[in-house]
Amino acid sequence: MKGHFIVFEGIDGAGLTTNSKFLVDWLNSIGIRAWYTKEPTQGTIGLYIRKLLKSGADPFLLTLLFTADRKEHMENEVIPKIRDGIFVVCDRYLFSTIAYQSAHGAKEELIRRLNKNFLKPDLVFLLDIDPSISLNRKQAEKESYERKEFLEKVRRKFLELASDEGFIVIPTDRPLNEIQEDIKKVMKYFLEEVGYAQEKV
Ligand code: TYD
Repeated sequence: MKGHFIVFEGIDGAGLTTNSKFLVDWLNSIGIRAWYTKEPTQGTIGLYIRKLLKSGADPFLLTLLFTADRKEHMENEVIPKIRDGIFVVCDRYLFSTIAYQSAHGAKEELIRRLNKNFLKPDLVFLLDIDPSISLNRKQAEKESYERKEFLEKVRRKFLELASDEGFIVIPTDRPLNEIQEDIKKVMKYFLEEVGYAQEKV
């Protein structure tokens, strides 16, 4: 079995971690080796990024750091696993850099140039939600009005990317079981397309 690269994207609170982990568990349950991973990583650069995010760093600096973190992530984890025949499910990828860092003022053309040699995903799910709903979900955080405005901008960028690059858009302001049924439906179709035996699914 050939490995594949599947990506989940979306704004904060859209349900990326829950749903990408769900997909990994479901794939494993039907006998397909799958692996969950995420960006920013837990490596040295990823941890440094998380520190900077708290204090609001320069978007160009963040672009460079996210790209460096991605390079390590791809070389050390993602590519070897895919070569090993594993379905790698990645919670955020370079489209997050395009959407978030460009919304903060980094030049999209530059972000794209820096990221142009990274592996193209076989399938991208965009989990889409209105920031006023997703921010209410994150009750622990006292989110500011500016944060909502910012996430609206990020959401628009993701939707634009989805239509340009053919992402699968899944609305997530509804019950989790409905969202996950949709993810399974898309995945079954994908598995058929790549020639995975129907009876297993
Ligand atoms: P997030 O997935 O929310 O991490 P966690 O759930 O562990 O807190 O990612 C942290 C933040 O980083 C999130 O607001 C999105 C942002 N981000 C970027 O701005 N650019 C990127 O390239 C990536 C991967 C994430």
